[in-house]
Amino acid sequence: MNIDQIFKNNQDWVNEKLGLDPNYFKNLSEGQNPEVLYIGCSDSRVTAEEIMGAKPGEAFILRNIANMVSNLDLSAMSVINYAVSHLKVNHIIVCGHYGCGGVKAAMQSQDLGLLNPWLRNIRDVYRLHKQELNAIKDEDEKYRRLVELNVQEQCVNVIKTADVQIAYRSRNLTVHGWVMDMGTGKLIDLKIDFDKVLKDIMEIYHLD
Ligand code: CO
Repeated sequence: MNIDQIFKNNQDWVNEKLGLDPNYFKNLSEGQNPEVLYIGCSDSRVTAEEIMGAKPGEAFILRNIANMVSNLDLSAMSVINYAVSHLKVNHIIVCGHYGCGGVKAAMQSQDLGLLNPWLRNIRDVYRLHKQELNAIKDEDEKYRRLVELNVQEQCVNVIKTADVQIAYRSRNLTVHGWVMDMGTGKLIDLKIDFDKVLKDIMEIYHLD
């Protein structure tokens, strides 16, 4: 993708939007009111807005390597705080994807330099679910399952935040765990039972 082409694409996009509605950018600049916070992987193939059909203004987005929600990550914590407490989103989606390079790297015994502390969080997910994962003999299947369990644990990390716990009680906020299957393009809802997850973790993580 060349840089000149990007600016040309941008001009085409501006023209297209103005062709549909001359006030498009005037309206857009008046503010945002997204319904959804999407937390996904930085992988260039899993384009958040495009796979969801979300228009500008509809989804607040955080992407990082392997869709992680770490309590020491100021970026993730700030995004969640702002989305939940100020923008009042009603849905938080953590979306992983099969074939995730970050998850794959965390399954290998390899020194990954700067990525070690980041991917160690995925090794922790493995350790938490070691029994289930070690029982899976097929390596591809195990890899896919770790992608799913990582999504589940990052959803749990979302629920551990004070902002989300407060919003859970005061309004209709829902957390969703999804996986994008790059082989088919489909989004899969993992249908995680958050009421149960919540009950299990609240004994320890309850904040107010
Ligand atoms: Co990925």
